[in-house]
Amino acid sequence: MRKAITAAELRRLFLDFFKSHGHAEIKSAPLVPDNDPTCLFTTAGMHPLVPYLLGEKHPAGKRLTNVQKCLRTGDIDEVGDPFHLTFFEMLGNWSLGDYFKEEAIAMSYEFLTRCLGFLPAEIKITCFAGDENAPKDQEAADIWQRHGIPAHNIYFLGKDDNWWGPAGQTGPCGPDTEMFVPLDRPDCGPDCGPACGCGKWVEIWNDVFMQYNKTADGQYVPLEHPNVDTGMGVERVTAFMQGVKSAYQTELFRGIFSKIQELTGRSDADHDNRSARIVAEHLRAATFLIGDGVKPSNVDQGYVLRRLIRRAIREARKLGISGLFTVDIAEVVVREYSPAYPELAEHSATILEELRREEEQFGKTLENGTREFNKLISKIPDFVTKKVISGKHAFNLYETYGFPLELTVEMAAERGFTVDEPGFRQAYEQHQALSRAGAEQKFKGGLADQSDATAALHTATHLLHQALRLVLGEHVAQSGSNITAERLRFDFSHPEKMTPEQLAEVEKIVNTQIQRNLPITCAEMSLAEAKKCGAIGLFEDKYGEVVKLYSMGDFSREICGGPHALNTGALGHFKILKEESSSRGVRRIKAVLQ
Ligand code: ALA
Repeated sequence: MRKAITAAELRRLFLDFFKSHGHAEIKSAPLVPDNDPTCLFTTAGMHPLVPYLLGEKHPAGKRLTNVQKCLRTGDIDEVGDPFHLTFFEMLGNWSLGDYFKEEAIAMSYEFLTRCLGFLPAEIKITCFAGDENAPKDQEAADIWQRHGIPAHNIYFLGKDDNWWGPAGQTGPCGPDTEMFVPLDRPDCGPDCGPACGCGKWVEIWNDVFMQYNKTADGQYVPLEHPNVDTGMGVERVTAFMQGVKSAYQTELFRGIFSKIQELTGRSDADHDNRSARIVAEHLRAATFLIGDGVKPSNVDQGYVLRRLIRRAIREARKLGISGLFTVDIAEVVVREYSPAYPELAEHSATILEELRREEEQFGKTLENGTREFNKLISKIPDFVTKKVISGKHAFNLYETYGFPLELTVEMAAERGFTVDEPGFRQAYEQHQALSRAGAEQKFKGGLADQSDATAALHTATHLLHQALRLVLGEHVAQSGSNITAERLRFDFSHPEKMTPEQLAEVEKIVNTQIQRNLPITCAEMSLAEAKKCGAIGLFEDKYGEVVKLYSMGDFSREICGGPHALNTGALGHFKILKEESSSRGVRRIKAVLQ
């Protein structure tokens, strides 16, 4: 029988199970990774273990288990729907050169059936189909079958689905096998399964067979000792076990929603309400971040924290909360999560103080900034007709009113406007150069971030732009671009939704250009010369007289400020996650490099 367990019970069941199989329980690492300049946050349980997956000896042994705090910012704009979270907890077990597929699958099977009560007939499995880097994982499928999973419930999928890692651009990775269980509703058709995308089949666990180290030049080098890395999302599995649609309906968020209802006096400010979900989710994440030593600021982790807090405040205003409130919510988070994460209680004074300070600071300017914003979109004739807010004005909202760029973009989108994001970056950089000449310019989350991950995504954006023009036509032009360490987001002019065939074609073209390992060169010239070369890009005179023309072999020529990878071959595998409308006549693509 499937058991309706709480998150606390799930954590305990999992950790005790793996301890009974010889694993040492290790503490969750902080949300900010040590010694990893390529990633702002810990994004998976394996992340803090990378050196040990690469062969270093772990002091606790070769079999480890834990529940790891994670934060992923790639889908931050999606938070508000029932499913997306920034902060989440991941249960994991690891073999560091110890057991491999046979034992890993046996333990997964035993935990799913004996501890969680799933029947073998209701579990579907996916395994790696094989490609030029690694063979088809028939071995994993055979092991599942021996345990009683029927062959027709085992699917073989490609790298996009059944390959995990590396966490950054390089590092341990390998084929995986994923476990799916069904929501209580009819199949979408005869082929309903993990790959159909109807949402019935929920992935609840992932066993990664980390056999390779992906190197900076894109090679997959076999590791001396193969490892196992697994990940089970606490929020998702808890919701599933309780038979509810989303984590927001579980006890993980119940206390937070009670507090929001108390503060608003509204009984509808609950798990069904978008604003309430954003307030709950973002302030839960913010509490954990400050608990791990992050302070609101304009750079790196601090900037993400600031975005989370400020977006939560804005949504709270929509719910009718006017006074200071973030501390009330953080107190609930600290109280409810301290049994599992004692560092929250330990740092509660700092958590509350930082939140109060940030809230007071932002509260002072929010109303004035919103007034200014409304003025911009209704009074400046150029903005009204083109439905675009200039980079300079977006920067002014940032500078004077403390509006993170993403907040302006979101407010603009709500009213059918876009923001000239490259223009914003330009204004930001000019300001930086003036105010602290020579100082290191580092501004993650889409600004002047110089990391390899963002440089690679930046390069991929050029390939994407050109591929879109080839597939859809010359009318395609960039209208916005936003790059974080995890993903690119590209807005472009096109009147209608792209078809799956067009998306596949674009993806294929980009990956072909990556595989060609094209050299990337940069030349400085006048705008007129660049135009003569057939360059695409943003031609406004904001780039000044001399422009930088980046060429990716013979495939793309685009005016841009950089930075870029040295060769397209360094990019890895390009995958489009989503194509959607951004505003009228503008489409938006989100994509990643894997
Ligand atoms: N590292 C793997 C994941 O995050 C287990 O899914």
